[in-house]
Amino acid sequence: MNLERVYLKGDRLDDVDNYHFNSIKNALTMSREEIIQKVKDSELKGRGGAGFPTGLKWQFAKDIDNDNKYLVCNGDEGEPGTFKDRYLLEERPLKVLEGIMIAAYAVGAARAYIYIRGEYINAIKKFQDVIDKAEKKNILGENIFSSDFSLELRLVRGAGAYVCGDETSLLNSIEGKRGRSRIKPPYPIQKGLFDNPTVVNNVESLCCAAEIFNEDSVEFSELGVEGSRGTKLISLSGDVNAPGLYEIEFAKVTLNDIIYKLGQGMRGSETLSFIIPGGVSTALIKAEDLELPYTYQTFEKLGSSLGSGAVIAVNESHDLLDLMLNVSRFYMDETCGTCFPCREGNRQINRILKRYKDNESELDFELINDIGNTIKLAARCGLGQSSLSFISSVINNYSSKFKSGGVKYA
Ligand code: NAI
Repeated sequence: MNLERVYLKGDRLDDVDNYHFNSIKNALTMSREEIIQKVKDSELKGRGGAGFPTGLKWQFAKDIDNDNKYLVCNGDEGEPGTFKDRYLLEERPLKVLEGIMIAAYAVGAARAYIYIRGEYINAIKKFQDVIDKAEKKNILGENIFSSDFSLELRLVRGAGAYVCGDETSLLNSIEGKRGRSRIKPPYPIQKGLFDNPTVVNNVESLCCAAEIFNEDSVEFSELGVEGSRGTKLISLSGDVNAPGLYEIEFAKVTLNDIIYKLGQGMRGSETLSFIIPGGVSTALIKAEDLELPYTYQTFEKLGSSLGSGAVIAVNESHDLLDLMLNVSRFYMDETCGTCFPCREGNRQINRILKRYKDNESELDFELINDIGNTIKLAARCGLGQSSLSFISSVINNYSSKFKSGGVKYA
């Protein structure tokens, strides 16, 4: 098992004056087609949660003939349990910057934005400092490293809305509008920022892109297995002895390794009940299913999703109903309220759970699943579509723990 930090080893990378910018310099020697082919060959998938192939997204954007393209780095990390982008922005901002520059160059964007979660005060300060210094040294600006590539980069600070992690809400927020989602399609690469073609990539995805062009680094496509290449940052939290941020190589560790080796096992005397593998927008995986390698395929097979890589370990002492109420409350508060299924659906789910908790009614599984399916099918953005993943998985896996007639689970 290789638990060595492949990309994140070494010191903090935030000193513009003493950084070599090898990845972007290397990319600038290549044609845009060659860059995109290399990213496609790497099999890099988006690390924000959806896992869309990054090279394909860049290809779509590059093929659009438009002089006003934008590149947007999504640093509005809000998924509960996720703290990987915060680390990258604070400790590896120059990697993020290189990733932004490579992506912008590849797709033909001369303007870029980085949108950082408002609560990430240190990351915002650090990244603005990096932008200012890079501009002074003409690492950002006109004819970067004497090439024909020019880039203007602006930082936008989020204002505390989880929904702005959804790319379309984020674009509205940058435009100064209320952070609420847009209907897709059109996808941002077709009609994004100020109606122009826009590539939105997550912070970690762009760091991976920078590493793909770093000749001193391990070949990305040699890491992991087909369909799950490279490494992944895991934000590990919950009832483990050693919560924290870990970098793993795909397929080289099992889910059990993450809990019992990286996380050093369960805290106290309680045993593991399940994990939430990718933040609260993903379905739980029971303790007995964890002897499988960490890959995109494994999560698909288990009916869940890798999500943002936020693994939350939950022991047997927790009240399942309280966990569901907590998650339900979160979605009820954070829905942007624009689309009816998400706004009303999450409100009704919370009401059903509360009434059950207060012994006012039975827990109607059929109704919950019905509302869940409706939100999944009809909500217009990822927030709504995945809002019932965890709650539905609790009900499907632990139905026998809930009694009808308003009696709380045993
Ligand atoms: P999505 O599947 O709609 O899109 C993924 C990306 O691929 C987007 O950039 C989209 O524009 C692009 N795309 C998809 N199909 C395309 C096509 N045919 N042509 C061009 N581009 C295309 O997923 P979405 O809504 O962007 O993300 C949902 C995920 O986000 C969930 O899986 C959830 O786990 C995750 N998430 C992450 C959070 C975080 O803090 N990192 C917070 C909340 C959710």
